[in-house]
Amino acid sequence: MSLTQTAATDSPAIGTPTEHVVGRLDEIPMGEGRTYVVAGVQVAVFRLRDGSLHATQAACPHAGGPLADGQTDVDVLVCPLHLYAYRWSDGGSSGGAGPLRLFPVREQDGDLLVTA
Ligand code: FES
Repeated sequence: MSLTQTAATDSPAIGTPTEHVVGRLDEIPMGEGRTYVVAGVQVAVFRLRDGSLHATQAACPHAGGPLADGQTDVDVLVCPLHLYAYRWSDGGSSGGAGPLRLFPVREQDGDLLVTA
């Protein structure tokens, strides 16, 4: 097998999303968010009261507000700066900003895994 073949099969291609362990689920209180750096990108991870997880870019697309400090429920995330509401379903906003970049997130054995 040549070096080129080894690199192609053992390493993800540049720009290919990869799943990363970012922290522990119990670091995030129910109903709150925390910011992590994932593959050089700041990502806000939320643990909703219904047990679901969501992850999005950490900076609000409107004016850079800290989304991890926003209020959220099962449908929307509200930025703490100007109160734009972003839908978890597609990242769209009621105020016209965005859409948010959303990231796949899951829990496994207490670890938080984000694909970025
Ligand atoms: S910075 Fe988030 S709504 Fe303005």
